[in-house]
Formats: sequence, C-alpha cells, structure tokens
Amino acid sequence: MQIDPWSSNQSTDYDRIVNEFGLAPFTYADRLVDPPALIRRGVVFAHRGFDLPFEAMTNGERWGVLTGLMPSGPMHLGHKLVFDQAAYYQSQGADVTITVADLEAFVARGMSLKKAQEIAVNNYIRNYIALGLTPERLNIYFQSRRRRVTDLGWQLAARATLSKMQAIYGFEGKTNIGHLYAPFVQAADILHVQDKDRGGARPIVVPVGIDQEPHIRLTRELADATRTYRVQMHRDKKLGEVLAVFVGNETDAARALDAAQYELAHRGLRVAGRNDNYRALYLHEPASATSTVDRILARLEQSRGEMGFISPAATYHRFMGGLDGGKMSSSRPESHIALDEDPDRAAKKLDRAQTGGRGSVDEQRRLGGQPDACAIYEAYVYHLAPDDKELTDIRERCRSGALLCGECKAFAKERIRIFLRTHQEKCHQTEHLVEAIAKEAHVA
Ligand code: TRP
Ligand code: SF4
Repeated sequence: MQIDPWSSNQSTDYDRIVNEFGLAPFTYADRLVDPPALIRRGVVFAHRGFDLPFEAMTNGERWGVLTGLMPSGPMHLGHKLVFDQAAYYQSQGADVTITVADLEAFVARGMSLKKAQEIAVNNYIRNYIALGLTPERLNIYFQSRRRRVTDLGWQLAARATLSKMQAIYGFEGKTNIGHLYAPFVQAADILHVQDKDRGGARPIVVPVGIDQEPHIRLTRELADATRTYRVQMHRDKKLGEVLAVFVGNETDAARALDAAQYELAHRGLRVAGRNDNYRALYLHEPASATSTVDRILARLEQSRGEMGFISPAATYHRFMGGLDGGKMSSSRPESHIALDEDPDRAAKKLDRAQTGGRGSVDEQRRLGGQPDACAIYEAYVYHLAPDDKELTDIRERCRSGALLCGECKAFAKERIRIFLRTHQEKCHQTEHLVEAIAKEAHVA
C-alpha cells in the first residue's frame, strides 16, 4: 500500500495504515494535561516518535510544533484539526511555527504564488489566530519567502536518490518533477526550525493528517542522515548494559569522540569507556537518558557547523468525512463548511447532510439511529460537542431511538451557527494582530 499525499482519494483503513507503515498507536490521552477533544476521542490515532516531545513537555524543556497548509482553497472545518492541536501544544509550552505552503500549492494545485498568498493573508492567517494560537511563541512564514527553507530543501535533496523517492511515493516516469522536489521543501519546513538561530536542536512534533505520512517518513530519514552521533543502548562485554554513543559519517572519529567526551563530561555525564575501533563511547546511564544525551550531542554538532537535526515526531489524525457523503474537500463546497461561511448557509448544509437515521420515525424509534454512519454525529465528535458527557448522551439517545434526526440536526445547526458567529467575531477582533503577522510572513 502506498499513500499519495496529493490525491483526493485517500484510503481510510486506519488499522491497516498503522500496521503497514509501522506507526505507533497514539496512547497519550491519559498522560497529557487537559488534552483537547480530538486527542481524548482518538481522532488523533497514531504517531511516530511522540515520546520525545512528550518528555520535553513533561520536563519543562524546550520543544516545538511545526505544521502548515497549502492555501489552495477556502479553509474549512477539516483544516481546523491541525490548529486545535497546535494551539493546545502552545498552551503546554511549545513554540509554534506555521508554514504557508505556497510553493506546494503552486506545484500540486497549479495555483499562482500571488493567489496562494492572497488566500493566506485574507483567510488562513486570521483563522489561525482566531482558532486560539497566540502571537507569543508563534512564527508564520511563506515557503517562497524564506530563502533558508528553499536552500535547505536543495541541501537535503542532494542526499536523496530517485530510488528512495520511488519507494516512498511510487513516483513514475510521468511524475511531474515539481512533485519530486516539493517533499524536500516540506522536509526543510520541518527541519529548519531546529536551526541554531531558531531555537536549536530540540524535539519537534508535526500534527498532520495521515495523508502526510510519506513526507514524515522521508523527513525523519533525512534528519537521521544529518547526524554525526547516534545514541542507543548497547551490551558491552566488560561494562554490561550501557548507553553507547557511536560516531557515524564523521571521517575523523577520534576527534568526534574527543569532542563528545568533553561535552558530556562538561554536562556531568561521565564516560565509562571508549572504543576507538568501534567509534564508540560508553556511559553508565539508563535508556531513559537517551534523549538527553542525544540532544546534547545534536547541539554539539550544530556548534561545529553541522545540521544536527533531531528526528522530528509526527501525530496523525483521521479525516472528517464530507457532509455530502464523499470526502471533505475544499473544491466541493457542499462537502465542507468554510470557517468564513455565512452561518445560515452552513446550517443549510448540515440540514442536507447524510445522517445515520432510519427510513421512518417508527423504525428509528424501534431500531435507533446509527451514529457511526452519520455526518452530523461526526461533526459533533470533531467540533460541535466538545463536552464528553454531552457527546455520550447524544450517542446513547441516538442509538436507543429516543433522539430523532430532526431534533438532533436542529441542535447541530444551532451549534454551528454559534461556532461560526463566535469564530468570525474573533477574526474581527484579532484583525489588528493579523496585519503585523502577515507583513512579517511576507518578507521572511
Ligand atoms: N503538505 C501539506 C499540505 O498538503 C502542507 C505542508 C507543507 C506541511 N509543509 C508542511 C504540513 C510541513 C506539515 C508540515 O497541506
Ligand atoms: Fe445522526 Fe443525530 Fe440522526 Fe443519530 S439522531 S443518526 S446522530 S442525526
């Protein structure tokens, strides 16, 4: 199975995706402080490497979030998922960077940069702020305006082969070359936030939809390849179970081992053994020290002018289905509710949405409705019923036949009206913040 990040026809067999791609199920809901509904309800269902940002969050260390969107159509409820998560992580101490993927919109959607930038400024950026991201510890930029990102893209591309790209994306002879390059710009988006002047090597989490998984896999491989040191548990004959630091692609291993030994000692981590033949240092430290040691060494690499990018983590969320039964898509207005949509029009869309109701009132009273096959219920899960007790109540009353679709829809319509009115009012109130951010993003 292969995921095509630019196709509008995604597989939604989530269990199979988790198995085939070796993703970890997302099981942090109980350990996070005040997790948002999307996390409590399993909409965020899988991850790669989330243990690192989680550890940083728990220990009060620096960590960051990077995510972004192609500004290729109206921003709608489906897009909101990523920003609900980013705002939550920001509230838990993360710095947040958002990329406006105008280059990707150009390559993948044939949209002019000018048009993409217009949509970003007039729509996306104000939504980001109104959805709860605060301007402190927030940086928004345009791919095409940040030279460092396109440069780093080339540097990363220079380390990859066509066969790797074919293996990850299934690219063929007819693939547009732009599609071959866009993933490197995205990798650069994700990695450049660990530059020394942007906070340095640190855990980063990228909240995305599952369609982005190929980009994440590529980015994590590219990040690993920038590293001089590799830290892992190791069994040594003399020393027993130790934490080992191996020197990889560095030509002068002796010098690299010296530097690491010195730096670790400086941080109070005593090196218990060294084997120059194996290009290794050994420390009497438990596995739980791996990330700390790794972070020290990544920063050491950076101080020597190397990239030293720690492999970024990602979380994956399920997609909200379209209101008209198909996929939710920006190009089909009937399938989505845009964040700047007229509340009454949005309510009408909910009215027409596919429900899990039965053929007649009688039948529904007898058999109950089917919330798991209902776009209205899905809208409650994702957005309209943030309170878990309320959601459970809707579910149970639906299944027992006590709640009928008419009443249920009327309630959802009221909720969407309130949500949109409040959101649009917030957009209005935060307008003054947007101008400065948009201006800054436009130049850097
Ligand atoms: N590819 C993403 C999309 O289709 C946009 C994007 C570009 C992105 N760079 C990113 C997402 C970095 C997350 C992280 O919308
Ligand atoms: Fe969907 Fe509500 Fe009807 Fe149940 S009662 S099927 S949740 S619209």
